[in-house]
Amino acid sequence: MLKRGSKSNPRNATQNCSVPVLVVSLTFMLMLVVLYVLVFQTDGEEKYTKIKSDSEKLSLAHGLPNPKQKWNSFDSLVQFHPTKEFRNGTDLIWQVPESPKGVLFIAHGCNGRAINFWDQSPECPDCVGLPEERLLVLHALAQGFAVITISSARTCWSYGKEVLVVKDIIGWWISKRKLEKLPLMALGASSGGYFVSVLATAMKFNSIVIMIAEGVFDEMDIKRDYPPTLFVHMPKDFSRQQKIDEHLEILKEKGIDVGVVECMEFPLSPNTLSDRIPGVDQNLSGKLFEFFKEKGFIDQSGYMRRDGRAIKLKKALDEKKTILLDKRLVHHIVEELNLAFAYHEMTSIHSDQIFKWFESHMS
Ligand SMILES: *[C@@H]1O[C@H](CO)[C@@H](O)[C@H](O)[C@H]1NC(C)=O
Ligand SMILES: *[C@@H]1O[C@H](CO)[C@@H](O)[C@H](O)[C@H]1NC(C)=O
Repeated sequence: MLKRGSKSNPRNATQNCSVPVLVVSLTFMLMLVVLYVLVFQTDGEEKYTKIKSDSEKLSLAHGLPNPKQKWNSFDSLVQFHPTKEFRNGTDLIWQVPESPKGVLFIAHGCNGRAINFWDQSPECPDCVGLPEERLLVLHALAQGFAVITISSARTCWSYGKEVLVVKDIIGWWISKRKLEKLPLMALGASSGGYFVSVLATAMKFNSIVIMIAEGVFDEMDIKRDYPPTLFVHMPKDFSRQQKIDEHLEILKEKGIDVGVVECMEFPLSPNTLSDRIPGVDQNLSGKLFEFFKEKGFIDQSGYMRRDGRAIKLKKALDEKKTILLDKRLVHHIVEELNLAFAYHEMTSIHSDQIFKWFESHMS
């Protein structure tokens, strides 16, 4: 029988435990890393085929990890001519192409804004045009989708009143532009991904894409008419990958069409940054590539050793006087470095699969 106030002091007991616990958990973490390397680096292909045969409904694409789209790939097809408006306390920026065939709402992640999706222009002087965001929008416009982006009220999206606000804004804008008859899609990344997963219970979407997020499917009542859902994620983020696997099961049990696209790391080349970022020329791109090598940010093969956020690029560049860079481009470069590391970043690399998903779920 145990009594309170027994001889061993619980605080001491905890302290005594903590070292072995630390060793055990470190060992465990190391095992996870080894396991991770084995599963994802060596037997990657096998794993993908396994998931694929799991379910007919699960479409899985392991796209080329190398980004083929250049920042100006869409020049001959479409130009940015966005309209910026203010409604319900926030800003929306939108563009409708000629004879649109669908409407796409895109939700940014934490710290994002609608201005990140559009290039700076007379119509939008404070627009930022981050490389992945702008390519996603260009791809959408080129495919004939009207695009609407909205800024969250705070740093990240919230799932209460803000859901109703965004529902109101989208509904108001659709009826004003007379786009009611068109299919409606949504794509959200990170915080925007969770947000879109909730928004899809409050308004009718034909299909959705949830990027680098698992959604909040474990906390919602999912009806059978929930829209077809494609997860675009980075399996290097192992715990998120596991949650996505669980949420895929929740959706499949309800008979909802689901798909997965996995984004893998890719090596930088001297031209990666000039290929992807307007305003970075080949010379600057090559110099930055050499600088990253010199600093050990990338390995011999050009792979990022750490996430782009971890290398403190702005500070490193301040010390490197021979590279003259418009500091407004640091954010753009870090985004591409995050993308190459493939842990957590907005991505347009898999736009082909994303729009294939939308196009095959229009009715
Ligand atoms: C959004 O703004 C409109 C027009 O001012 C208003 O009627 C509507 O109630 C607002 N929606 C929300 C959820 O606050
Ligand atoms: C960039 O241009 C300068 C001259 O403008 C040249 O000396 C240098 O070698 C170039 N660097 C690269 C990496 O191409």
